[in-house]
Amino acid sequence: MKIAVIGAGAMGSLYGGYLSKAGQDVCLIDVWQEHVDRINREGLAIEEASGDIKVYPKAVCHAREVGTADLAIVFVKSIMTQKAMEANLDLIGPETAVLSLQNGYGNVEEIARFVERERIIAGTTAHGATMLQPGRIRHAGIGATHIGAVSGEGGTDVAAVAQVLRHAGFETEVSGNVMKLVWDKLMINVGINALTAILKVPNGRLLEHEEARMLMEAAVEEAVRVANAAGMDLDREETIRRVMSVAGRTGENRSSMLQDITNGRRTEIDTINGAIIREGKKHGIHTPVNMVLTNLIRIMEKSQ
Ligand code: PAF
Repeated sequence: MKIAVIGAGAMGSLYGGYLSKAGQDVCLIDVWQEHVDRINREGLAIEEASGDIKVYPKAVCHAREVGTADLAIVFVKSIMTQKAMEANLDLIGPETAVLSLQNGYGNVEEIARFVERERIIAGTTAHGATMLQPGRIRHAGIGATHIGAVSGEGGTDVAAVAQVLRHAGFETEVSGNVMKLVWDKLMINVGINALTAILKVPNGRLLEHEEARMLMEAAVEEAVRVANAAGMDLDREETIRRVMSVAGRTGENRSSMLQDITNGRRTEIDTINGAIIREGKKHGIHTPVNMVLTNLIRIMEKSQ
């Protein structure tokens, strides 16, 4: 299968790397020339707990060098989805399926401005990865991948995409309720990302402090209320337990938001805790903890 990965940050490189190792025809697309050059020259190094591996996907800076893909996996930051789709329309043909495994709320709507909903697959990943240097990432947390068709039946063959992911070593489940997947993952990012970026700690360290656990819980509790007002049926206790469990399982990982803050990049705060504030307002739900976390991150972004 010809697979284009739009956005070769840590997660895009991880998925693209393992898919190419499994024999798929993978091309990573990223504006970061140094990363692209290093991958083409020396391969992509993935640091695993069991040792380093080297994989050899192609890498380019421009979609026009790729041709039409069978599957495009969008892995850019959620704040860049629209721009990335515009810049990569060359690789999307009438049959191309588009899979988003991004963090944040609103990606499906952005992608649907460019591709029919029947060809969009959305999902979540519980893997964690860190960009170490051009051409080198660390695989810092292992978890399941959940995907589902955005338009329900009659569209892209989601089972076939799931099979390709499984063959590459990603434990993958197909779900019939994509929006639940998106909200479920959002809960994890709401609880972990801003706090780890503010405290500058890896995910697992949040669990060591009662105060941090209380803040995680409070942010997630607000988000659960918003999700349920938006038509979900999330259980407060179960959701909080799940967020804590992901923080533990990805304990060594520096969250994507911490990596962004550390590297002076804009974060996904607006599509994570910021989305909770926005969606909360629509339903008349106050979200003071998410408001504090969002504003602290915005100040940090402006101060760098
Ligand atoms: O954004 C992230 O870093 C990841 O979604 C997660 C699961 C929080 C692991 O670090």
